[in-house]
Amino acid sequence: MRAILLAMAALGLAALPVSAAEPQIVIKFSHVAAPQAHKSLASEHFKKLAEAYTQGRVRIELYPNSQLYKDKEELEALQLGAVQMLAPSVSKFGPLGIKAFEVFDLPYIFAGYDELAKVTEGDVGRELLGKLESKGLIGLAYWNNGFKILSANSQLLGPDDVLGLKMRIQASKVIEAQMWALGALPQVMAFSEAYQALSSGVVDGTENTPANMYNQKMFEVQKHATLTNHGYLGYAVISNAKFWKGLPPDIRAALERAIAETTPVANKLARDENETAMAEMKASGRTVFHEPTPEEIAAWRAALLPVHDEMANRVGRDLIDRIYAATGHKPATQ
Ligand code: LMR
Repeated sequence: MRAILLAMAALGLAALPVSAAEPQIVIKFSHVAAPQAHKSLASEHFKKLAEAYTQGRVRIELYPNSQLYKDKEELEALQLGAVQMLAPSVSKFGPLGIKAFEVFDLPYIFAGYDELAKVTEGDVGRELLGKLESKGLIGLAYWNNGFKILSANSQLLGPDDVLGLKMRIQASKVIEAQMWALGALPQVMAFSEAYQALSSGVVDGTENTPANMYNQKMFEVQKHATLTNHGYLGYAVISNAKFWKGLPPDIRAALERAIAETTPVANKLARDENETAMAEMKASGRTVFHEPTPEEIAAWRAALLPVHDEMANRVGRDLIDRIYAATGHKPATQ
């Protein structure tokens, strides 16, 4: 054996992993966020761990910035097996026929990151990921983005200021209902098209996290924003169930370890980036950011909270109640 190893070393083969003869598994990971966005940094972190833990038997190819597919197309591509991993916003599963994830879009359902974690890291979050299997998908983790703010070219001091504005939204019926509740006109649009639509006036305003607003340069074409923090935006890391279950068990375990270890890193990157993005945007002076008073927040909440009951039939009363139980409260106006 020693002689063989020495002979291999002489041929320069000793560094090759034992499994070098096996074909490499390629995982195409597509997403819509900018190359500098935290979702990109998180997926790069995952790639590094995944390739190390599988000793090079897996190669992760990253395709950020909608370069392969836009929002809707990437989900179809995953179902068809054209790509193997995505991290779409959970607000985008409704069109696939999985409405329950829109519970995350209910305004003011989470008072902050601690409450959110009780769901994403608990039974309810796990069960929701399980629902993806009926569509040929497998849910592997939640990665946060953050909490959304409202923006437009006019001041948004209260719900009346949104009346009649055309607002770009993600493809979620709950977000649509939220915009109707404010008297706005929701327009579902791919993320990659939002900047252009805002800059050309096809829409007047939008809602998004500071990180997305900054990375997509939306702040350059929105004069006002109000720090409503009215809703959550986050991702489910997903794969094609057939592909995932067909992986050799040791490879699958190594990838799952890489994802589990990436999740806290991804969440930290997102929090930090939302903070720095806000600071950068404020410093740029392009957008005026309004911090609502407690009275103004009460008015936003009063206008938006009825959406919980309105959408109960769509997302499930039971599910909403389980989230109230997990977070410890039903959101109130004050
Ligand atoms: C959006 O469409 O606004 C977001 O879901 C984009 C993203 O991936 O953060």
